[in-house]
Amino acid sequence: MDYYIDKVFDLNFGKKKTAKINTFGCQMNAHDSEKLCDMLLKMGYKITDDKNNNDVDLVLFNTCCVRENPEDKLFGNLGYFKNKKKLKPDLKIILCGCMMQQKHIIEKIKKSYDFVDVVFGTFNAHKFPELLFNNLVTNSQIIDIWKENKNHEEEIYLTRKYFFKASVNIIYGCNNFCSYCIVPYVRGRERSRNFNEILDEIKKLVDDGVKEIMLLGQNVNSYGLDLKENKINFAELLFKVNNINGLERIRFMTSHPKDLSDDLIFAIRDLNKVCKHLHLPVQSGSNRILKLMNRKYTREKYLDLINKIKMNINDIALSTDIIVGFPSETENDFLETIDLIKKVEFNSAFSFIYSKREGTPAAKMSEQIDSEIVKKRFGYLIKVLNEIIEKKNKIYNGKVEKILVEEFDEENKKLTGRNEKNMLVHFESDKNLVGKIVNVKIIDAKPFYLIGQKIGS
Ligand code: 5AD
Ligand code: SF4
Repeated sequence: MDYYIDKVFDLNFGKKKTAKINTFGCQMNAHDSEKLCDMLLKMGYKITDDKNNNDVDLVLFNTCCVRENPEDKLFGNLGYFKNKKKLKPDLKIILCGCMMQQKHIIEKIKKSYDFVDVVFGTFNAHKFPELLFNNLVTNSQIIDIWKENKNHEEEIYLTRKYFFKASVNIIYGCNNFCSYCIVPYVRGRERSRNFNEILDEIKKLVDDGVKEIMLLGQNVNSYGLDLKENKINFAELLFKVNNINGLERIRFMTSHPKDLSDDLIFAIRDLNKVCKHLHLPVQSGSNRILKLMNRKYTREKYLDLINKIKMNINDIALSTDIIVGFPSETENDFLETIDLIKKVEFNSAFSFIYSKREGTPAAKMSEQIDSEIVKKRFGYLIKVLNEIIEKKNKIYNGKVEKILVEEFDEENKKLTGRNEKNMLVHFESDKNLVGKIVNVKIIDAKPFYLIGQKIGS
């Protein structure tokens, strides 16, 4: 998403109206919302998270269509804001994000949601200020959806949720067309950013106090493949980022197992700032299902890769994504997934119930699985995963971990942060440690977090 500061100006002429941003979906969307927030601030809005929406002058929904049924959620919310708008006619309602790239959604908005003010998609979010301006001037619904990316995205210095950590897009879109996934249709083909641009952005962020960077892409491993000039691969990019003075931690997501190179494994092993944590979605442990999913690896290849990673990177933490109930999944296929997760022993995992996405090849597959069976399998998967994760977490007991402190909870006076492996750690200490990296001794391990005690001064 790119936008140009000189085109953004205070649309409220100093009146400081209030805007609320609702974000659905993945880290990519969360990061897009930071950029939209930046634009809103520059347009003269102040941001609120008021749950009652009493003082809200503008509400923005950054939508997602990757899983679940976000449509019900969005249209339910719109019903609520329609009523609010009756009492406050100048309330602005803005819709953007992946869901808006779907034709049937736009048709529905045009037909039945004429009170929505501005709608834009994933390829033209940089136009938000211009579109809002047009709406303010004409007081009519503005819908602007691009089918593809027309100019190369460019990042600019932006407002962040945290002052000490930030995300940076390195590649947009996806070429993989996993058969269940809508992303390639709503985010377009892979487009890598020039590495100089990426490095400049990170340097600016570090100058501004950022200690941890998350490099974002649907598949970071294909970074650079589409570049015509200044072509480097992802491992090479990591080397360059690692050299940035003042930066302390580098994370990245997501890696497709089919593209994970030896060079990348060695880079993770050798680069001191790269966190020893790898998110490597497996999706299924059954070769038959993996083929239907168009994942382009087998369970054997995945397991070999995991072995190679574990052999090379001491103590690496592994996380994954798993889909349950893909069309035609048999009990046997499911048990192969269970077997695989037991073999790998992931440190954490995101499990999803398969959700039919119109327009994807999997949606046309005849054998959709009965929801009761899927729920049962999902419940069992969670139980097995939790047992593994709890066991893995116990390893931390008694260890001293470096924690980047993220938040202070006023109510129970506890700090929360993450270790290098991305585990959440709660401990008691001073509020002004937020944003600092401190040593914490782990005294108890729960399934989803660790409890610690700060050591040293
Ligand atoms: N149904 C369920 N899960 C999905 N994911 C993507 N598409 C679907 C879908 N249609 C999951 C995959 C992916 C993660 C980001 O979301 O596991 O890795
Ligand atoms: Fe979707 Fe597959 Fe691309 Fe991930 S790699 S975004 S699951 S198509």
